[in-house]
Amino acid sequence: MNKNRIMDHPVLESLGNPKKITFTFDGKKYEGFEGDTIASALLANGIRKLRVQEATGNPRSIYCNIGHCFECRVAVNGKQGYRACVTLIEENMAVDSGQVLPHPLHPDVEDLPKTYADYAKNYKKGGNPNA
Ligand code: FES
Repeated sequence: MNKNRIMDHPVLESLGNPKKITFTFDGKKYEGFEGDTIASALLANGIRKLRVQEATGNPRSIYCNIGHCFECRVAVNGKQGYRACVTLIEENMAVDSGQVLPHPLHPDVEDLPKTYADYAKNYKKGGNPNA
């Protein structure tokens, strides 16, 4: 655990002996320290991918790390939409990564135009621009 954590910083000094907290991420058990956010605890355990982009499946991680961008959304104890960068870990917390979601308006998200050029080409053909 905590293989990526700086325990003794030359400017910020030593972390001392903080209380360990056990939590799970996608069903696997990890340890963090009291005061860790979900993101910092996962980073300390070498995990950077927090979710995937809902439509494309591209991996996403922390971006702003101050609670503004919502790139770090995870599920906590079965509830979606927690920002990993500003949510403190708690003992036995169950954290799950965000997964690809079904698209509400289109039956097969893979068929959606990937670029504006694709969209415009379909529109000019007179067909459904989203097909
Ligand atoms: S990384 Fe931006 S809100 Fe968490």
